[in-house]
Formats: sequence, structure tokens, C-alpha cells
Amino acid sequence: MTTLSPSARSSTTSIIEDDRPVLVSCQRVSHSYGRGHALVVAVREVTCEVEPRARIALTGPSGSGKSTLLHLMAGLEEPTAGRVGWPGLGGHPLMHPGRVGVVFQGPSLLPGLNAVENVSFPLHLAGVSDQEATQRGVDALRRLGIDDLAGALPQELSGGQAQRIAVARVLAARPALILADEPTGQLDHGAAALVMDVLLQAADELDAAVVVSTHDPAVASRLPGRWWMRDGHLEGTDRQARFDTPTEAVRP
Ligand SMILES: Nc1ncnc2c1ncn2[C@@H]1O[C@H](COP(=O)(O)OP(=O)(O)OP(=O)(O)O)[C@@H](O)[C@H]1O
Ligand SMILES: [Mg+2]
Repeated sequence: MTTLSPSARSSTTSIIEDDRPVLVSCQRVSHSYGRGHALVVAVREVTCEVEPRARIALTGPSGSGKSTLLHLMAGLEEPTAGRVGWPGLGGHPLMHPGRVGVVFQGPSLLPGLNAVENVSFPLHLAGVSDQEATQRGVDALRRLGIDDLAGALPQELSGGQAQRIAVARVLAARPALILADEPTGQLDHGAAALVMDVLLQAADELDAAVVVSTHDPAVASRLPGRWWMRDGHLEGTDRQARFDTPTEAVRP
């Protein structure tokens, strides 16, 4: 298992004041799906900021709005009320491909491409040369211990293998903000620890901020910041949470 170097560990567990603008700012942001009798308010008047170098565990019961909030912060969903801004990223992420990396909760690999092609595909779109894109793809797979799967197609992969390839795809793109939606949800404890090691080391190297939604207390404990949601509300935030209570029990 990969372990964090002392320097990586210290920089992921301490708050360093940083006068750069916040990467994402949500001001009284709400998001609804459907309408009429089918209306679901997934996120309700959430105000929050992701600072440079942030390390945040986003927790809360299933259906509390974690994925929706991450998608709003990624610019993949438009708020139905309120405002999302990206002052530290130069504007809307869709106008700046590669600045925000999203590890999706569900399957996200392109079925016609093998693992390394999936990982390097966004780099090709961003204009990186074929050779460099492939090399970065292979390197990212190697960091996650799955370079032997480089030629495998998504339908040949387990859920956990596909999940690690999705993490590799984000790291290969070298984003400034990593939004990872239950990136270890299909992994055993050892593989989950490895993914968190690699994710946090890469974030340190990239000087990137990280928000990880999770139900796993062991994963949440790797991140010093804590946000917790319930019924669409962001009920609280803590820049330096204590780690001695289970994730879902951190706050009532
Ligand atoms: N595309 C959609 N269409 C309609 N309703 C949706 C859609 N996506 C999410 N919802 C609803 O929005 C609410 C919040 O869902 P969301 O996926 O954000 O929760 P979550 O906290 O990520 O849950 P989980 O921990 O299970 O992943 C839920 O009630 C869900 O059913
Ligand atoms: Mg979710």
C-alpha cells in the first residue's frame, strides 16, 4: 500500500492561510429537479466557499444533496436560485476545461475506449499531444496500481477498477480543484486507502483543492475540513474537524 510521505501528510492536515481568491463561491444556491408534484429540492440555499488548498470531506445521509452540490460547484448543473462563482479559477469551469476535475459517483468511462484511452481522452481534447497524453495516462494508472489494466475495456472491469480509472482520469488532467463524489464507494479498505493516498499526494503536488463526498468515516478522517448536509441544507462546516467520531455522527 502506498503511504503518505511526512511532508504530504502535514500539508493535508494543516490549514495554511492563503490570500488567493476562493476557487468556488456559492451564495444561497438552490437546485431543484422536476416540477409540479415531481419537484425535488435537492439543494436549499447553500452558502459556502472552497478555498485554495482546501481539504474537505462532504458528508450527510443518502439523498441529502451531496452529489448535486458537487455538480453545482463543477458548473455541471445550473442553480435554480442563488449564484455560483469561480473567482479563483478564472470563470465558469466549462470555459476553462481541465481546471476542475470531477470523479463521478456513477459509471463514467466511455465504453468504446480502453482504460488508458479513457484517462488520456480529456487531455487530447485539451490539445495535449498524443504521446504526452498517453504517457500521462499510463503514469496516472501506475500511481493507482492499475497500469496492468491499461488495455482493458470498461465492460471488462470491476466497479472498483472502473472507479480507480475514473480517479486516474482526473489526476492526469492536473486540475486546480478536485471534486470527488464517493470515489472509494466500491473499494475495499485497502484500495480506498490507496486511492486517498494518491488523491491527496497529487493534490499536494498540484497545489489543488479537494472536496470528497463520502459515507466512509475512514475516508472522511483523511481530510481536515468537514461539511455536512441534511435535506439539501449545508448544516455546518468546520475547517479543522476532529476525527474521533464516525462520519455520519459528527453532527446531529
Ligand atoms: N437527476 C435527478 N432527477 C430527479 N431527482 C434527482 C436527480 N438527481 C438527484 N435527485 C434527487 O435529489 C436529491 C439529492 O440527491 P443527491 O444525489 O444530490 O444526494 P446524495 O447526498 O449525493 O445521495 P447519495 O449519498 O445517495 O449519493 C434526492 O432526493 C434525489 O432523489
Ligand atoms: Mg451522491
